[in-house]
Amino acid sequence: MAIDNYSLLLLYLLSPSLISLSFAKNIPLGSSLYASNQNQNQNWSSPNNIFSLSFIQAIPTTSPPSYLAAITYTAVGGVTVWSAGGAAIDSGGALHFLSTGVLRLVNGSDATLWDSPTANLGVTSASLDDSGNLSLNNGSVPVWSSFENPIVTVIPSQNFTVGKILRSGFYSFSLLRSGTMTLTWNDSVVYWSHALNSSLDTNLTSPTLSLQPNGILSIFDHSLISRVIMAYGNDFGEGSDVFRFLKLDTDGNLRIYSASGGSGTIVETWAAVTDQCQVFGYCGNMGICSYQDSNTICQCPSENFEFIDKHDRTKGCKRKVEIEACMMNATMLKLEHVKFLTYQLEVSQYYIVGISACRSNCLASSSCVALTSMSDGTGSCTMKTPDFISGYQGPALPSTSFVKVCGPAMPTSSPAMNIVGNGKCLRSHAWIDGFVLVSAFLVLITFVGGLWWWCRRNSPKFGGLSAEYLLLEYASGAPVRFSYRELQRSTKDFKEKLGAGGFGAVYRGILVNNAVVAVKQLEGIEQGERQFRMEVATISSTHHVNLVRLIGFCSEGRRRLLVYEFMKNGSLDNFLSEAEEQASKMLNWEYRFNIALGTARGITYLHEECRDCIVHCDIKPENILLDENFNAKVSDFGLAKLINQKEHRYKTLVSVRGTRGYLAPEWLSNFPITSKSDVYSYGMVLLEIVSGRRNFEVSAETNWKKFSTWAYEEFENQNVEVIIDKRLAGQDVNMEQVVRAIQVSFWCIQEQPSMRPMMGKVMQMLEGVMQIHRPPAPFSVTEGSVSGTGVNVSDDLHTFSTTVASAPRQSSSLSFHTAVISPLASAANMERPYSSLLTSHSSRL
Ligand SMILES: *[C@@H]1O[C@H](CO)[C@@H](O)[C@H](O)[C@H]1NC(C)=O
Ligand SMILES: *[C@@H]1O[C@H](CO)[C@@H](O)[C@H](O)[C@H]1NC(C)=O
Ligand SMILES: *[C@@H]1O[C@H](CO)[C@@H](O)[C@H](O)[C@H]1NC(C)=O
Ligand SMILES: *[C@@H]1O[C@H](CO)[C@@H](O)[C@H](O)[C@H]1NC(C)=O
Ligand SMILES: *[C@@H]1O[C@H](CO)[C@@H](O)[C@H](O)[C@H]1NC(C)=O
Ligand SMILES: *[C@@H]1O[C@H](CO)[C@@H](O)[C@H](O)[C@H]1NC(C)=O
Ligand SMILES: *[C@@H]1O[C@H](CO)[C@@H](O)[C@H](O)[C@H]1NC(C)=O
Ligand SMILES: *[C@@H]1O[C@H](CO)[C@@H](O)[C@H](O)[C@H]1NC(C)=O
Ligand SMILES: *[C@@H]1O[C@H](CO)[C@@H](O)[C@H](O)[C@H]1NC(C)=O
Repeated sequence: MAIDNYSLLLLYLLSPSLISLSFAKNIPLGSSLYASNQNQNQNWSSPNNIFSLSFIQAIPTTSPPSYLAAITYTAVGGVTVWSAGGAAIDSGGALHFLSTGVLRLVNGSDATLWDSPTANLGVTSASLDDSGNLSLNNGSVPVWSSFENPIVTVIPSQNFTVGKILRSGFYSFSLLRSGTMTLTWNDSVVYWSHALNSSLDTNLTSPTLSLQPNGILSIFDHSLISRVIMAYGNDFGEGSDVFRFLKLDTDGNLRIYSASGGSGTIVETWAAVTDQCQVFGYCGNMGICSYQDSNTICQCPSENFEFIDKHDRTKGCKRKVEIEACMMNATMLKLEHVKFLTYQLEVSQYYIVGISACRSNCLASSSCVALTSMSDGTGSCTMKTPDFISGYQGPALPSTSFVKVCGPAMPTSSPAMNIVGNGKCLRSHAWIDGFVLVSAFLVLITFVGGLWWWCRRNSPKFGGLSAEYLLLEYASGAPVRFSYRELQRSTKDFKEKLGAGGFGAVYRGILVNNAVVAVKQLEGIEQGERQFRMEVATISSTHHVNLVRLIGFCSEGRRRLLVYEFMKNGSLDNFLSEAEEQASKMLNWEYRFNIALGTARGITYLHEECRDCIVHCDIKPENILLDENFNAKVSDFGLAKLINQKEHRYKTLVSVRGTRGYLAPEWLSNFPITSKSDVYSYGMVLLEIVSGRRNFEVSAETNWKKFSTWAYEEFENQNVEVIIDKRLAGQDVNMEQVVRAIQVSFWCIQEQPSMRPMMGKVMQMLEGVMQIHRPPAPFSVTEGSVSGTGVNVSDDLHTFSTTVASAPRQSSSLSFHTAVISPLASAANMERPYSSLLTSHSSRL
């Protein structure tokens, strides 16, 4: 109960409405606002001018301009919290408060676009209060209010209840009676939902969702003892003068934003769907969503399709020839690493068959137009009927899709799609394409030639470079070349050090375009300019959402620097160890699992999907960076090649302080270093993500054994709880994921490289799409082998030989303490509302 008193107090303090409600200015019957007057600041404002109702230009801006009659938060222009009917009008439009008590929005031609449903309710006045609530009143009794009729936004002190709906295009957001929040496409496909934890075991009466001023989205119900946190912004309620709001965006994602009155900036602090491509229908019917750098792009499956609207690719694609036109002659176009999103699986669409049977079944069935087959040995095959189809392509997706097309399959030439067709490529406009290709090639040759000449003239060192290499560099979207002076300036002479890795120190910098970057000063690079640039070209042509992007480089004399995109949340190690001073920064399980998956995807891409496969050689928490949404991005890949192999082996071992515990045993022997060495390091990192402890820590708690050894014993004894980070106690933890992650980590840290799975498999096991067999003891008992950095290795081995022999046990009957409060970091670093919520909770537990 303490909570409610507190939040009420908070409401009083932070929302002036309750104080100034009685002073709200009345808007009399008969008043009007005109769109054409929007430049004259004509408005109806709240008593303290915090909110105002006026005409603003609709976004996106069109020509001729269109307008919204909107309530905006005055301190930050552009924050629209409500708009009349959600409809845009032309410059002749107006908003009339009719004498009948109806608020009416009319377009230029006097066509009524929206009426408030308040006719004959005795409305005598309207008022806009300082909490942003516009109400139409019968005397002093509100009969209609904007808070009760939200459009796409919910703001603090506004209650969102069952039956209300936010709508944006095909997308809608609503709250179910069970307390589950859902995002739905076209009122039919629920592509995201977030439930109260079922362990709460209550039947809610009338759940109310609200956004607290500090950015916590919580549910209250009379049957609940306290508010249940559903989501919260990643700025943790920090900053004064920050206005937060929840918004259903046109891209179908639900987000929490923080608008700062001081700087006038609006930043996203939480998004419901972390992977935008998972939003159903984001790229329209038959559109395929994928990532380029970190941005989403929409494409068509192949040349058999064309965009419905070339200017708005999210509108989707259509076949150039409909399949009805060739029912008998249709072919199946193969799309690698593509899945068609399926959220509600109907039994009739789902089969367990091999990929070729799946394909031919679909080809033979007139109701099947596309299918997705998991290429992971599970034999899962999902067929799609001619409904709306939404696609996702990602290099790490373990699925292959087929789509029925008329006549020969014509795979896209775009390298981003990387699509393999299974028919002959007969283009009707081949000659045009040929012409375009030849002219592009000529332009490129001229350009390269010019550049070649220019470089020769400017740099005598450049002589060794082959034209082939240059071609390669330019074809792959070459990174920017910076001068040393430029980087010196942007880092303020290397003032703000972000960290020091195995390859050199990293500094924060700001480029001229205001982009924040991380500048790495490489050390011990003996290679010449040419090889350095080849490596830079390789690194920068490696794009994946889970890899840190290389923006540019500098190579002057002996100086070698790399410029990377800046990751707001630093590296993973800051969040793991409880010993460090940043112990307050703790990640909940959901984030941890996402980071584990993201890292696996990034490494899989390096190993298996990209053109020049890369062995990272230095996977460790310090090299796993987190962006503003705590998505994992692997950094420092491709650098090991820059350093002489032998020397690197030595260097890595010498700097064992930073890397110890992550090095596979083969580093210490003479076995070759392969991608399996990365798998080992990943396994160690994964175990740390679960346990929150560094794997090389040895303590009384682990019986003075190496953590991984101890963890394996405890796991074998079904003591999963002791392995899990103690700080997660009392939080929502998906035990199934935990067990999966622990098992995968034991597979990864097998001493024998051949026993370790490939990264792609690791990912599938983690995702749960592939069954995990019981892992054997990671360390063999054979004499003379060295395990990791071997602390007390020989002592452990005896204990092991006994556990290995014991019978396999089921690990499914596990339980873990859960509580009402879902993920929250420890209280130390939080604003008061958080800590107060936590303390009152711990007293309950
Ligand atoms: C609303 O009108 C008042 C004057 O009536 C003006 O001072 C104020 O700036 C206006 N606000 C907006 C947001 O246009
Ligand atoms: C308003 O009228 C203009 C033409 O005057 C029209 O183009 C526009 O679509 C109308 N707006 C709405 C929302 O109907
Ligand atoms: C306005 O409110 C009064 C008292 O609250 C009520 O008696 C009256 O019926 C209302 N007017 C209409 C038209 O509903
Ligand atoms: C907003 O208006 C509604 C009228 O339906 C009223 O019930 C509610 O109390 C108002 N909210 C605030 C915060 O003033
Ligand atoms: C919002 O909901 C809470 C909890 O149900 C309630 O105490 C509060 O009065 C409501 N506020 C408004 C403005 O309706
Ligand atoms: C949305 O649903 C309606 C009714 O269920 C249907 O008629 C319409 O075709 C759907 N829209 C799309 C784009 O599929
Ligand atoms: C509730 O918690 C349990 C145990 O941690 C977990 O298995 C379950 O998935 C959670 N339920 C929901 C709906 O989040
Ligand atoms: C919730 O309702 C269901 C049936 O409607 C009932 O079986 C169940 O016991 C109720 N749970 C609680 C905790 O009241
Ligand atoms: C199918 O292909 C054959 C030749 O391969 C052609 O003669 C026939 O017209 C095609 N049928 C249809 C329905 O397109």
